[in-house]
Amino acid sequence: MNGDGTGQMECFSYVREIQPILDKHCVRCHTGGKTEDGGDAPFSLKGDVLPYSYTQCPNNGDKTQDPHRAFTASYLNLTRFGHGDGPVNWISAQSRPTLLPPYSAGAATSKLMQHLEPSHNDVQVSQAEKQRIACWIDLCVPFCGSYTDANRWEEQVKATYLYFEAKRARLAEIEVDNLRKLLAARAQGKTFAPEDFQMFDQGGPEARRRFEQNWLERNRTGVTEVSRSDRRNHGER
Ligand code: HEC
Repeated sequence: MNGDGTGQMECFSYVREIQPILDKHCVRCHTGGKTEDGGDAPFSLKGDVLPYSYTQCPNNGDKTQDPHRAFTASYLNLTRFGHGDGPVNWISAQSRPTLLPPYSAGAATSKLMQHLEPSHNDVQVSQAEKQRIACWIDLCVPFCGSYTDANRWEEQVKATYLYFEAKRARLAEIEVDNLRKLLAARAQGKTFAPEDFQMFDQGGPEARRRFEQNWLERNRTGVTEVSRSDRRNHGER
């Protein structure tokens, strides 16, 4: 992320870091379908996006809503739709707020790791790949590398998101500018009064409506995801 708070946050992404390992070593058996002799294949570790609704997700108030994320079959199966009672055992946000005993969760206690060390069915996963999977578990199974990653947002939702992002960027810009002016004034021995500070000027329902409308008009031609270039070129604020 940039020092001014406007950059793209790039964090651990399941789709980028973990799925390729599963594609390489696991999906030839883990199809979730049928085997050649008509038996049941083991659960899917494929990267296909599954239709998913909150009804499958525990601890959630509104069970009618779509979470608007392109969750993959492998992710949902490994985390049991966030239930955490499957092959991966991580510390969930709903864990007891007491001190947990050592090794009560994490890669060290996950069945998934036991299937890699030693590997079952002679699967050869490299040390680096194992470490990456352990890292994912111990980061508490993140899916997206950034808020906009793998989203399934309707155009209106994207427009709203980009409006708030543009607002944050504008606030960061103003703050940096104010700090520069303050430092310059200090260096010259001048006082910098509160009224010299630049105030936020791009908010409110009217600004939001205008921003969203402009963005929607520009994007009539149907983009599927909020892309990097959208984020850089969100234009007027
Ligand atoms: C040659 C086929 C094959 C390959 C390749 C394979 N698996 Fe499996 N896996 C199976 C079968 C069959 C089962 C079900 C029987 C069992 O538990 O061993 C299974 C079971 C599992 C289980 C236990 C599920 C549970 O809840 O008990 C995990 C976890 C697992 N596999 C992970 C993986 C991962 C990760 C990979 C890739 C690194 C992988 N497997 C590659 C065939 C395979």
